Amino acid sequence: MSIQWEESLKLGVAAIDEQHEEIFKHFSTLTESLQKGEGSSVVLDMLAYLDQYTATHFKDEEVLMELHHYPKLELQRQQHSRFRENVAILSEKVANNAPKQEIAIKIDAELIKYFITHIRKLDRELVEFITSRFADLSFKVKGES
Ligand SMILES: [Fe+2]
Ligand SMILES: [Fe+2]
Repeated sequence: MSIQWEESLKLGVAAIDEQHEEIFKHFSTLTESLQKGEGSSVVLDMLAYLDQYTATHFKDEEVLMELHHYPKLELQRQQHSRFRENVAILSEKVANNAPKQEIAIKIDAELIKYFITHIRKLDRELVEFITSRFADLSFKVKGES
């Protein structure tokens, strides 16, 4: 699949957008390697990166959701943990000598797709919720003055 960061993935909260954009550089590295038939050479780095990246990124989003009493926090949490579980499962397979090229294809076809769908649906709803709260707030402040 084509993995390019594009404007339509931007949600409007810089802290989240910057983190999302960062992961796409790594997605591109994986897909380019796969196209050259060298997917197996980047699998270990990619899985380590995904583990470390999601620990930070998902936590940052969840803190933001708690702060805003976001009603869909649980759903986000579930999807975040499912993604991390899948990273752990693939890492375990690699540790048990599964063919690295196959794992690279799985990361490309499943994890990346899952992440992009998550941004387009759940993260977009989150940002819309937060920005609408800010809009309400500025309205109230203006109304009081
Ligand atoms: Fe996200
Ligand atoms: Fe998220």
